[in-house]
Amino acid sequence: MAVCTSFATRKPSLPRAAAIQGTMLARVLSPLCARPTSLTAGGITLRAMSTSESPVADKEFPFARPRTFEPPAEYAQLRRECPVAQANLFDGTPIWLLTKLKDCQQVLVDVRFSKVRTHPGFPELVPGAKAAVEGREPTFVDQDPPQHTKFRGFFAPYFTAEYGEKMRPGIRQKVDELIDDMRKGSKPANLQEAFSLPLPFKVIYELLGIPFSDYDFLSNNIAMRTSGSSTARDAAAAQDELTNYMERLVDQKIQNPKEDVISWVIRDNLHKGEISRDQLAAHAFLLVVAGNATVASMINLGVMTLLDNPDQLAALQRDQSLLNSAVHEICRYHTASSYALRRVALEDVQVGGTTVKSGEGIIALNQSANRDEEHFPDPDRFDIKRSPNPEIAFGYGTHLCIALPLSVVELEEAFRGLFDGRLNNLRLAVPASQLQFSEPRQDVGLVEMPVTWD
Ligand code: HEM
Repeated sequence: MAVCTSFATRKPSLPRAAAIQGTMLARVLSPLCARPTSLTAGGITLRAMSTSESPVADKEFPFARPRTFEPPAEYAQLRRECPVAQANLFDGTPIWLLTKLKDCQQVLVDVRFSKVRTHPGFPELVPGAKAAVEGREPTFVDQDPPQHTKFRGFFAPYFTAEYGEKMRPGIRQKVDELIDDMRKGSKPANLQEAFSLPLPFKVIYELLGIPFSDYDFLSNNIAMRTSGSSTARDAAAAQDELTNYMERLVDQKIQNPKEDVISWVIRDNLHKGEISRDQLAAHAFLLVVAGNATVASMINLGVMTLLDNPDQLAALQRDQSLLNSAVHEICRYHTASSYALRRVALEDVQVGGTTVKSGEGIIALNQSANRDEEHFPDPDRFDIKRSPNPEIAFGYGTHLCIALPLSVVELEEAFRGLFDGRLNNLRLAVPASQLQFSEPRQDVGLVEMPVTWD
């Protein structure tokens, strides 16, 4: 049995303090692990917490996926051996990793953990991210209550489950149009370009009142801004183009309001002085870039996984009431937004038996939590009938994805349309072993999705 090592006997971590930013993090942290331990005394089994050295103490986070779409192997090891563990960011900054569902949920509802990225202890995953955030108009995704509550509240009425249902017929029509275009086009097709990416973009453009004729301009600049291979100058230029575009769009809608979310927020909030023109432009931009790639990823990976499980696909085709649970299972199984749940502690907080100190960074690993054996029996099995399925692919608590209901409707309609027989015998156009996946340390996704049909 693992025995508790007392704090006095911890091994000091490597002297990486030079790279550590911020006053709180300037003290060198020992690479710790907090885990539940059972002690049997006098016939009674007691559960206690022990601390010892983190098995990933010397590893850089993010960890690599071992193969294709499998989550990093470290996650299962940590859930077993060290649910709250320390690892290091690219610059040597120590961070806490949460791998169990309950610990993630605890932190994600706790206002003592902040999402404000300008805080010195906020964990960033790539060089330059801190500088990029400085000076940018903040949006609710990077704010804490009460600002978060205020700004999210301006947009929330258009992202409810009821609103999602109101949008369903329009979304179904877009699915039908894209499928018709695929049938008219050549085979094989890249599903990513022909369907998976255009669908969420068309939906959010219509909701916000952005002309779809600007799709190429916007997607090229969004790709330039987010691609790891762009130079800093190109990425900054793309960001400027996008900011200018959104500001012009808001100006046009101030002059000439239409029936769309930007115009409604102008009417209800901007004219009352509750949100400025620049703040509204920044939020419109957030909603355009936040989740479309993730929706696309879920469509591609969902199609791949359903094709790989023909019995489950057949059940889904027979019984469309399974669409909702199938979507949640695809999102659980693949968890394609897996590094978003980053926070910094504003005071000392106990999490899973360890003290996260004020100023320390923490990452709630929803991709690991979604495979937590305590809540998902046989977690590595894909099962569209899984129930209950308390997945946290869309986050949890205060910052739960605002577009969860909308995304679920989009995904349900996407799978309904793709497998209703119009693309008869839809299948991969290459052997599954030849599918190309995203870089192993990035969110899981497919680089392209070659499909064909009869
Ligand atoms: C399958 C699709 C999607 C997944 C898996 C996903 C996942 C997530 C996750 C994990 C968070 C939580 C971030 C955190 O707690 O720090 C989040 C927040 C957010 N998502 Fe999504 N998302 C998806 C689609 C979308 C779409 C389509 C949009 C835009 C229309 C969107 C907009 C947002 C915004 C604005 C937030 C911030 C919410 C807040 O801070 O209150 N997401 N999403």
